[in-house]
Amino acid sequence: MPTLIDNEQRAAWRRDGVLVLPGFASVDAVEALKTRARAIVDAFDPAADGGGPAVFSSRDRARLAEQALAASADQVRCFFEEEAFDADGRLAVPKAQAINKIGHALHDRDPVFGRFSRDPRLAALVADLGVAEPLLVQSMLIFKQPRIGGEVVWHQDASFLITDPPSVIGLWFALEDATLDNGCLWVAPGGHRGPLRERYVQQGEGFVTETLDATPWPSGDATRPLEVAAGTLVAFDGQLPHASAPNRSAVSRMAYTLHVVDGRAAWSPLNWLQRRADDPARGFG
Ligand code: FE2
Repeated sequence: MPTLIDNEQRAAWRRDGVLVLPGFASVDAVEALKTRARAIVDAFDPAADGGGPAVFSSRDRARLAEQALAASADQVRCFFEEEAFDADGRLAVPKAQAINKIGHALHDRDPVFGRFSRDPRLAALVADLGVAEPLLVQSMLIFKQPRIGGEVVWHQDASFLITDPPSVIGLWFALEDATLDNGCLWVAPGGHRGPLRERYVQQGEGFVTETLDATPWPSGDATRPLEVAAGTLVAFDGQLPHASAPNRSAVSRMAYTLHVVDGRAAWSPLNWLQRRADDPARGFG
């Protein structure tokens, strides 16, 4: 398999836990994903979506959101922004501007996202980053809507996609320019060498966030914003702390994310994301 990154980038990956590859996705490829995402939202009927809005919040995961999350493991489902509703629970903005994200099996259920996600260059990159038996486990289209796009607090993706040993890698594609104004990613370079602080696991009928390590989240000089142009791919280690601020600007900050784990590692039965035995996660082939 051809390699996609050079030795310097490989060293940067080990040192920082994050790699920025500008221009990875063409203008046409980016446009195709945006168009497809808008069509999915157009076709989405909130009233028919199982008895209520599936509001997703990284701060307050209500029961309804938990159920919608678990049900989305092998589906294409729309999740609302928390601030999309007024005090009476009615949509306060048009539907197209009310969706926080689409998840979590776009890579398996949607042909446009499927083609993009199974790009041979991604297989080469993930192999370069040390994943021997890649499995595509999760995908999300994140809208980061103008003005109401919510904050994503500091976290590590390995808390939500648990394998033993930890193996998850995040592939984050900017579909629009990401800036400080519209809520770009913030990362803590090198922070992947620190401990996994939390894990989000099944407990009874619901899910809980357990603290594994009380190490504080990075702040100040340990953090830096990733202002990147549309088409950029940001790859990051599953233990790299990252976050993004709310979007209070007038423009959206769309991104597509794909998460890959190593099939040699054991998938935790406590993960929120569980695929049926007859419909398992697949690799790039
Ligand atoms: Fe994340």
